[in-house]
Amino acid sequence: MSENQDQLKAAAAESAAARVTDGMIVGLGSGSTAALAVSALGRRVGGGLHITGIPTSEATAAQAKALGIPLTTLAEVSSIDMTIDGADEVEQGSLDLIKGLGGALLREKLVATATKALVIVADSSKLVTHLGARDPIPVEVVPFGWESTAARLAGLGAAPTLRRNTMREVFVTDGGHYILDCRFGSIASAEVLASELDHVVGVVEHGLFIGMTSEVHLAGADGVRVMKRRFERR
Ligand code: A5P
Repeated sequence: MSENQDQLKAAAAESAAARVTDGMIVGLGSGSTAALAVSALGRRVGGGLHITGIPTSEATAAQAKALGIPLTTLAEVSSIDMTIDGADEVEQGSLDLIKGLGGALLREKLVATATKALVIVADSSKLVTHLGARDPIPVEVVPFGWESTAARLAGLGAAPTLRRNTMREVFVTDGGHYILDCRFGSIASAEVLASELDHVVGVVEHGLFIGMTSEVHLAGADGVRVMKRRFERR
C-alpha cells in the first residue's frame, strides 16, 4: 500500500472518530482503516473521552484493550450508538457495501445490525459504481460439508474459492468457520443476491451489507467527503 493511501485512510478514520461523543457505546470495526479509527479513539480516550467499545474481531479487541478503551459485549448492551468500520467496496448512491475481505464479516454484521449509525471509513479507491465487479463476495460457511455448500453457491452463479492464509492453510474465522470468496461477476441486484445467499444451507453470513450504511467518510486527494444515504435506514 502506498504512503498516500495510508494517509487517506488515516484522514477518513480521524474524520469519523471525531463524530464520537462522550458516553457513547461504539462498535469498533476491523481491517486496516478501522484500526486507524480505533487508534484515533484510543487517543481521545487518553484525553478524557468516556466511551465503551464493542469490537468486531479478536484483533480489534486486542488493539482496543492495549489502548485502554473499555469494552463490553452484545450480551451486556442491546443497542450501539455508532459503529465505525471499513469496507472493501462502497456503492455510489446506495452506500451498500461489500465487506469481509479481512475475514471479520460475521461479527461486523452482528454489530452493524445492532447499531443506530453505521459510519464507514475508506479511501476513495473503495468507491464503485456497481458492487461485485471488482471484488468477490466473502461468504462465511460452516466447515462441515463446505464442498456441498460451495456447489450450492456455484448454482447461484458464483465461482467460489476456499480462502487460505499466507501459509496456504485454510483460513478459519474468529467464529471457527471457513470463507468462500465468491465471484459473481457483475451483479444485477445486490439486494436480490443477498436474499438468495441468506437462504443457502451451510451459509452462516455473507459480506453484502445492504441498506445498513448511515454515512461514509471517504478520503481522496481533495480531502474527506462525508456521503449520506439518500433515504432513511430500514
Ligand atoms: C474486515 O472483515 C473487512 O470487512 C474490512 O472492513 C474490510 O476488508 C476493509 O479493510 P481495509 O480497511 O483493510 O481495506
